[in-house]
Amino acid sequence: MEKVKTGIFGLNPLLDGGFNKNSVTVVVGAPGAGKTTFVNQFLRKGLEEGQEAIYISLEENKDQIVAECKEMGWDDVDEYFELGLLVLLEAGGIEFSKFIKEDFPSFVNEWKGSEARIVIDPLTPIIWAEDNKYEQRSLISSLFKEAKKIGTVVATLEEHGVQGYMGGEEVVTPMYLADCVIHLKIVEPFGRMLSIRKCRSSWHSEEEHPFKIIRGPGLIVHRKPIFKSIKTIPADLKARIEGILPAVSEKDRRHIESVLEHISEEDMGEIEPKELVDYIMEEYGVKSAKPHEQSNQALKGRKKDSEQG
Ligand SMILES: Nc1ncnc2c1ncn2[C@@H]1O[C@H](COP(=O)(O)OP(=O)(O)O)[C@@H](O)[C@H]1O
Ligand SMILES: [Mg+2]
Repeated sequence: MEKVKTGIFGLNPLLDGGFNKNSVTVVVGAPGAGKTTFVNQFLRKGLEEGQEAIYISLEENKDQIVAECKEMGWDDVDEYFELGLLVLLEAGGIEFSKFIKEDFPSFVNEWKGSEARIVIDPLTPIIWAEDNKYEQRSLISSLFKEAKKIGTVVATLEEHGVQGYMGGEEVVTPMYLADCVIHLKIVEPFGRMLSIRKCRSSWHSEEEHPFKIIRGPGLIVHRKPIFKSIKTIPADLKARIEGILPAVSEKDRRHIESVLEHISEEDMGEIEPKELVDYIMEEYGVKSAKPHEQSNQALKGRKKDSEQG
């Protein structure tokens, strides 16, 4: 999967290199969480790499956007506007359904395949403007689908009520439709925390990462030293599994082999190879043993492992 650098200091390794190209990321957070700063950094990075940037605004005008960029230390933002490399699409005052169904698709036709960066900050007014759930979903879905034709998309969502609950009506639909969801949270009295809630077709960190907002660099995400915990299955455990292969069906054998093949690349976190092998044996192996005895054994195995480690 081709990756696009996020422009957020410290974030790329947490997404295995960045956002997937032509994906949609939704950044969720309460007011003041850092969403606008996040998307501005994303656009700035692209412009510096020679990609074009499109800012879709449903609320703010150009002066407000420029002021916010400068406030965080992006001093030459107006030059990009003047050069036409940073383009503002103002949809405030237009009926959103007309914008999404008519104006935006014709804009996309002109820009198709340009591999630009697209920001929608914030997406929330579309949700509020549309009461009908089906229509809401269809609008957001078309907006995302169209925007992906131009390039890589980051949209923001206002979170109200309990931070991190993520079940609020205003966030559920866009989060479901997005490829990647990033949550920005303010935790009193500790400070700001970033977490990646989902990311399709990519490994991602599952930790909470402290971050700071600093004029100049913008968001800086604090990284922890260990990310992927990749493990391979030792020879003795492999032999155990190979022992049962002749007895299982062709389909089961292929499933087991694909499971084993993948774990050499995937993050297994705290799960040890022995535990996985126990579960494979439980699933496909000695069919005569009572299931609860096997899982007890697996648990014992895990306990022993952690005692040793
Ligand atoms: N000059 C600054 N230096 C450091 N932090 C700032 C500065 N200006 C704004 N901030 C911080 O950034 C936050 C605003 O971030 P913003 O991206 O506008 O949030 P959101 O779009 O989620 O409402 C503010 O809450 C403030 O704490
Ligand atoms: Mg904002």
